[in-house]
Parts: sequence; structure tokens; C-alpha cells
Amino acid sequence: MASPVTQAPPLLLLLLLFVFLLTSSISAWKKDEFRNCNQTPFCKRARFRKPHSLPPFTVSDVSLSDGGLSARLVSSEVPRPLLLHLSVYHGGILRLKIDEDSSTDPPSRQRFQVPDVLLSDLNDRRLWLSRLSSSSPGFSSFYLADGFEAVLRHDPFELSIRRTGSGSDPTQDRILSLNSHGLFDFEQLRSKNDGEEWEERFRSHTDSRPYGPQSITLDVSFYDADFVYGIPEHASTSLALRPTRGPGVDDSEPYRLFNLDVFEYIHESPFGLYGSIPFMISHGERSSAGFFWLNSAEMQIDVLAPGWDDPESPVNGRIDTLWMSEAGIVDAFFFVGPGPKDVIRQYTSLTGTPSMPPEFAIAYHQCRWNYRDEEDVAAVDAGFDEHDIPYDVLWLDIEHTDGKRYFTWDRTLFPTPEEMQKKLADKGRKMVTIVDPHIKRDDSYFIHKEATEKGYYVKDASGKDYDGWCWPGSSSYLDMLNPEIREWWAEKFSLENYKGSTPTLYIWNDMNEPSVFNGPEVTMPRDAVHYGGVEHREVHNANGYFFHMATANGLLKRGGGKVRPFVLSRAFFAGSQRYGAVWTGDNSADWDQLRVSVPMTVTLGLTGIAFSGADVGGFFGNPETELLVRWYQVGAYYPFFRGHAHHDTKRREPWLFGERNTALMREAIRTRYSLLPYYYTLFREASVSGVPVMRPLWLEFPDDKEAYNNADAFMIGSSLLVQGIYEEKQKTVSVYLPGKKQSWYNLKSGVAFAAGMTHKLEVSEDGIPSFQRAGTIIPRRDRFRRSSSQMVNDPYTLVIALNSSLAAEGDLYVDDGKSYDFEQGAYIHRRFIFYNGKLSSSSIRPSNAGEKKFSSDCVIERIIFLGLPNGPKRALIETENRETDIEPGPLVLRSGSSPRALVVRKPNLRIADDWTLKIF
Ligand code: NOJ
Repeated sequence: MASPVTQAPPLLLLLLLFVFLLTSSISAWKKDEFRNCNQTPFCKRARFRKPHSLPPFTVSDVSLSDGGLSARLVSSEVPRPLLLHLSVYHGGILRLKIDEDSSTDPPSRQRFQVPDVLLSDLNDRRLWLSRLSSSSPGFSSFYLADGFEAVLRHDPFELSIRRTGSGSDPTQDRILSLNSHGLFDFEQLRSKNDGEEWEERFRSHTDSRPYGPQSITLDVSFYDADFVYGIPEHASTSLALRPTRGPGVDDSEPYRLFNLDVFEYIHESPFGLYGSIPFMISHGERSSAGFFWLNSAEMQIDVLAPGWDDPESPVNGRIDTLWMSEAGIVDAFFFVGPGPKDVIRQYTSLTGTPSMPPEFAIAYHQCRWNYRDEEDVAAVDAGFDEHDIPYDVLWLDIEHTDGKRYFTWDRTLFPTPEEMQKKLADKGRKMVTIVDPHIKRDDSYFIHKEATEKGYYVKDASGKDYDGWCWPGSSSYLDMLNPEIREWWAEKFSLENYKGSTPTLYIWNDMNEPSVFNGPEVTMPRDAVHYGGVEHREVHNANGYFFHMATANGLLKRGGGKVRPFVLSRAFFAGSQRYGAVWTGDNSADWDQLRVSVPMTVTLGLTGIAFSGADVGGFFGNPETELLVRWYQVGAYYPFFRGHAHHDTKRREPWLFGERNTALMREAIRTRYSLLPYYYTLFREASVSGVPVMRPLWLEFPDDKEAYNNADAFMIGSSLLVQGIYEEKQKTVSVYLPGKKQSWYNLKSGVAFAAGMTHKLEVSEDGIPSFQRAGTIIPRRDRFRRSSSQMVNDPYTLVIALNSSLAAEGDLYVDDGKSYDFEQGAYIHRRFIFYNGKLSSSSIRPSNAGEKKFSSDCVIERIIFLGLPNGPKRALIETENRETDIEPGPLVLRSGSSPRALVVRKPNLRIADDWTLKIF
């Protein structure tokens, strides 16, 4: 490659920019690099429009067709009527589509509908609409789900969902509505008027906008709602979405959904980050509801404070929102709930539940930009063993490649990659390498050569392969919207094609927003052209999703469809949960970023992405030791648990901060390892129902108002509550324990705390406050090995936290941790119930579980009771007529804590069997 000084000046500039980006670690978020609403014409046009100020749309020509309701939407504002279609899906889902009518007077092009996000069997789940309910004149109503109906008002157009049986007034008892404020607007494709300028400029970039304005705006109202949540990705320390406009709100931006590589993002901002999910959930004491707009163009969303439309008469209990998108169509879904878990189930029944991860992937990952060479890898690996810290995966960042040509190795630094992976694999460990979407424009690079020959790159507005700047320098970007290209890409992960890879190598997709250092807002120009003539502006937010999909498919193919893939992606969209994990990108090593990581990950879970986490320790900067330790203590509970750091930071493997701190980090990581059976069981639950692993308190306590906006604590499943510590030298912490009349047991000490109140607790460096809910049973594994796969034959511990009726229940799910045999029934799923002095284990197995069996000789070696009044001394295993002792004992073996619990010693009950155990 030519040296930088011999390059032409523009290239030199680019190179300087590149070097700057590469080395800079101290400059802060560059707000000016990104457009705000005022600099975004479609947002500016729509945002400050007064309610009902546009000529109204009316509904005409209502008919039942194609199993749903069809109609035309007419307004004096739009040249051609729009087509509206409503359909109903099983389980309480209403779909609204609005598009241009291309049958008569066709517009110059079809507007973009996002493909391959909705599950392919969705059509089979449609409820055929064959009649309208008897309804008032000017309204069409129809059955939506038991207790709910959809109501279409004709003049002016308004769509609502209401509870049935609440009187004949169709505007009564609503839960959701659209266009109640008359803000619906649809810019139809048209020819350019004389003298009209369609180009848009931002900084040094010009967007040619060849098809002109085509934005869509709509208002959605949520009733009986105290708060709304969702629409990631934004950094905010509030879990509930704060209002962005209206009385009491300082000048603020709308929430922006536009996937961007934001350098050093700040912890409190509605600006867009790496991923976008246009799905919002409302919640109040009476019910929850949801709204999802399947549209991958830039979106801006206002949450309006009560009184935004009329400060004299604010309406409480209703939250209005305004949704503005640059392009696409209306393909929107309304979810009736009524519980919050129902809403998540409804949403994931469209976009898919999270895929079941391989078991190793939910253990601890060690990453750094970069582990330098094979010696470094070996030393880090050995460091974990020397310090008795388990870990499962070692990661290699971009420097492991030959000049940022992905699928290659820097053979000086990594001469024997297969051997290196094998050495890790011998200890049950895996490796992850990074594969980014920018392809180095180098004719001798096989990927570039083939992609160029096959015409697989995204084109620029002039029709040439788009050329942007990223880590390798001049780069092009594969057009993953095209299924053929995704298939081609997937093949690149075969062991033959990816030289130096082995079956224990997994993949990390970064920079897939896509990040383009010299592009507008550090991304691809909106007028770049994809497969089928689709403009980048239309597909932008799903760009990373398609890349993630193709990579996951590659690993799936590599394993002959039999091995579960693991792919981490930075960019995401609705449905990404089907392809792997995501993380919250380049955070910084400060306390606020530790705090914000919790609402960010919880929000991802609410919107389908159960498998997520933040870089433990913070990516940029050097965390002080206390922060690093606290981060491990919180991070040990993230569904995706990985330490990672920028290359300018000091090394921070967990044993580099003195013995005491090593012990604290070891303890945090071990806590995660001991809870792996519980986490795996929760991942199973997520993959079946969509209900996330990490949950906001209100998901478990939907009636408890105190829990609605608690962003500092979170639930892991329904049994465990964790309160983070987010401040330096914190001495005390207030912990709100939700629920009524019950108690919570401290996870380490076993001390009981009353529910329904806030406790002021002393903070120690040993850990963060975590509690087991009374009435639950948590499965653990308490023997520590080098990695999770070395624990597969280890026995289990059951921790039974009794409620006031001295009862408890919980689950354990086990399978082979790697294959898809569980889909044919090869798993063990137990339900443990303790009641009336008797613990029983029975199988949970739906009749359609499949014939394959999974066998395990693992036993339960210890049963720990919390909240059991002293008395029972013996346990009888009734099914085997065998007795064993009950003795006072510690809850956690290694902490040296004094006995707080009663422990059934060596019951040695097989997890695969049904049994009962009686205490007396
Ligand atoms: C940006 C990613 O967010 C970060 O995690 C990674 O280390 C760098 N790119 C280098 O690949």
C-alpha cells in the first residue's frame, strides 16, 4: 500500500480523519456531527403541526376483503386516495397497513416494506374477518380478541381499540387509538414541481433525494397509561420514556431511531444510537398495551406531556405520542395486552422470540481491543486459571486480521490460530473473532474480488459501488438486503472458507449500522442504492439486522444446521433477537454509564432482545478500581456478560488490581456461574414466550405503582431482584422491595426483608444487594470449574425461599447446551413445588414436545431452605424410602457466612426423575 504522504490530498484527509478516530479517546460526544430534528426537514415539518390543522382524512369504500377490512383514505391534501387494510391476528393483535394505490395511476415506484422481519407463519395466525359487528353509523367495528374490538371511525379517520361490553358509544373505554389528534400525514410520491429543490444538505454532505418528500406522520394514544417504555436504543437513566414536549418539558429533541455509531455517547440523551426498535409499551394499573411500526427508515418519536395540545385541560391517564418516519409505508401493529407479559408475547409472536443461545454464551466473556498475539491469548487464558476465575470465551478484535481483511489472520501475530483455539477448547473454552461489514477495497482480497465481480456491493447514487472509509481504509459494503448475497456471505463461515477457524470459533459483528467514517453522520448516504432499487434511507435501520441474520445463518450452516450459533451484533432492529446477542456499544468508564447500562438492557429485553449487556468496565477510559469492581457486580447479572476495553486503556484483566479486588471480581463472576442453571432456564422461558431474562420490576409487579419507574433495580426472572450500586464510596442504598405481605431474602446472608417498602441498607464492597423472592426456588451449581462446559456433570443446589404459607416453587431447564435436539424434545424441564412440608419434582412437558429424550445423571446435592422455622431434622425421600439429615448451614458456601439456612444434606436426587421429599 502507498504511504500516506504519496496519496492525493482528499485521501490524505481521510487518512488523517481515520487516524484521529483510531487514536482519539479523550474527546467527547460530537453533537454537531448528528442532525437534530430542526436540521431534519421531515421532522421539522411534522413536529410542530397543530392537532387537526391538516385537512382531515376520511374513510370511504369500506369492504371486507382478503380476510380483513379494506378501505380508501381520502383527503383534499393528497392527490390520490390511500389504501387502508386492517387485519387481525390470533392473540390480540390488530394490523394496520396504509400505502399508496399503485394499481391505478401508479406512482413512479413502490414504497419500501421491510421484508424478512415478520415470522413466515404469521399468515396462518390470522383471524379471518367475515363480518363487522353491528355498529353506530359512521363507524366500522369488529372483533379483535375476547374483550376487545377495533373501531374505525370514518369521518374524520380514526382507528381505536376498546374494551367491549362498555356501552354503545364507540369512543368509550379505549386502550389505544391512532389519529385522534388528526396528525396523520402521508407525503405521496410525486413528480418534482418546477423550481422545487429536493436535495438536502448536512455539513459537507448532499443527499440527492431523487424521489422527494415521502415521510409519514401519525399520532398514537395510549389510555390507562401511567408510563410508556421501549423504542430503544437511547441512553437514559429513566426506564420510562420521559416526555419530549409539552408543559413542564424543557426544549428537547424527539427520541430518534436512526442507527448510528456515536463516538462517546452521553448517558442522558434522546439521540439515536446503534439500534432501533419502533415498539412502545404502555403500562398502568388497569392494563398494558403496545404499538409497533414496522418501518426501517429514520424515525423520530415524541412522547407528549399531558396538556401538550391544550395546557388548560391536561388529560391524565392518557399518553399521546407522535411518530414521524422519513419513508416507507404504514405497517403498524397494536397489541391489546392486557398484562405487560401479554404485550411482549404478542410482539414476539410477530418478530420472533429470542433464539436459544448455546450455554457457554451466557457465561463470562473476556474481550479487549486487542489481545495482541497468541502469547497474549495464552497468558490471559492462564491468568484466569491461576486466579481461579472461571471464564468461557476469549475475544479477538480487529487487529487479529491481516490489515482488517475479515476472515484472515495476521500470521505474524497469530501463526497458528487452529492450535490456539484448540488449546482453549481443551478447557471447554471458545474464541470469538470480529467480522465487520466494511470490505477492504483491495483487489487481492478474495472477499472484495468476488463481491466486485458478482456486483454484491451497495451502489452509490451514481450507480457505482459505494466507497466509504472505515477501519481498513477505502471500503465497500455488501448489500445484505439481497437474500442471494446473504447466502453467499453465510458460506464464508464454513471451515473450508474461513481458514484458521475451528468449530469452537464464534463471531462478533460490529460497525453494522453501518459505520462509515466519512459518511453523513458517520454512516452511509441515504441516497445509496440497495437491491431492488431500494434507497438506503428506506432500509437503514435494518441494515445491521440483515448482516447479523446472514452471519448467524453462516454459523448455522457451518454446523450443518445442528449447532446453535453465537453472533454478537452492535446494530439491531425488530427481530434481531432471532440471531443472537447485542451489546450497548462504546460506553465510557464512568459511574453514570454504569447506571444507564441497566435501563438500556432492561429496555432491550422489553422489546424482544433478551440477550444483551454493556461492556463491563466501560469501553473508553480507565475505570477506577472501585468502579470496575462495581461494574463486575452489576454486569454479572446482565444477560450478556462481557468485559471489554478500548485499545488506549490500561489492561484490566480481573487480577490486576490487588488481591482483595481480584477476590471481589472473582466472587462476582462466580455468582454468575453458580446461577447459570437459573439463567439457562430463563433463556428457555424467553425463547418460548418472549418474556425477557432481565426484567423491570413492574413486569413482575404490574399493580405496584412504586415499581413503575424504578430504573436502578431489576429482576432476573421472577425470583431474583438486584439493586445496582452506581456511586463512588456509597455508604447506604435505598432498595424498594415490591409486592405485598411477602418477604425477600438476601442472596448471600439469607436475611429476610419485608416487601412493599423501601429499605435503607448499608453498602459493603462485597457485593450489590440481591434478593430472592419468597415463594420461589432457584437452581444453582456451586462447584467452580474453569468454564461452564466443565460443569455439565456437576450436581445442583436448590434454594427454596419460603413464603408466608411456607410454600415455594421454581423451574429447572436442562438440555445439551449446544444442539437443536431440544426442539424434538431432548430436554429435562422440572417443576419443583414445596408445599405442606413436601418437595416434589415433576416434569413440564407439553404433549407436542417431541420424542427425543435427553438423559442426565446429575443430582441435587443440597437443598437449602430459607424461612423455614427451626424444627425439622430429617428428610425422607419418599420415592426411594431413604432418609437424610437436615442441619443449619450457610446459604453461600464460599462466603464463610454464618448458618442462616436449613440444609438438606446430600439428598442426591436425580434431576431427570420424579420424586418427593418430605421434611419432618
Ligand atoms: C467499535 C466497537 O464498538 C468496539 O467494541 C470495538 O472494540 C471497536 N469498534 C474496534 O473493533
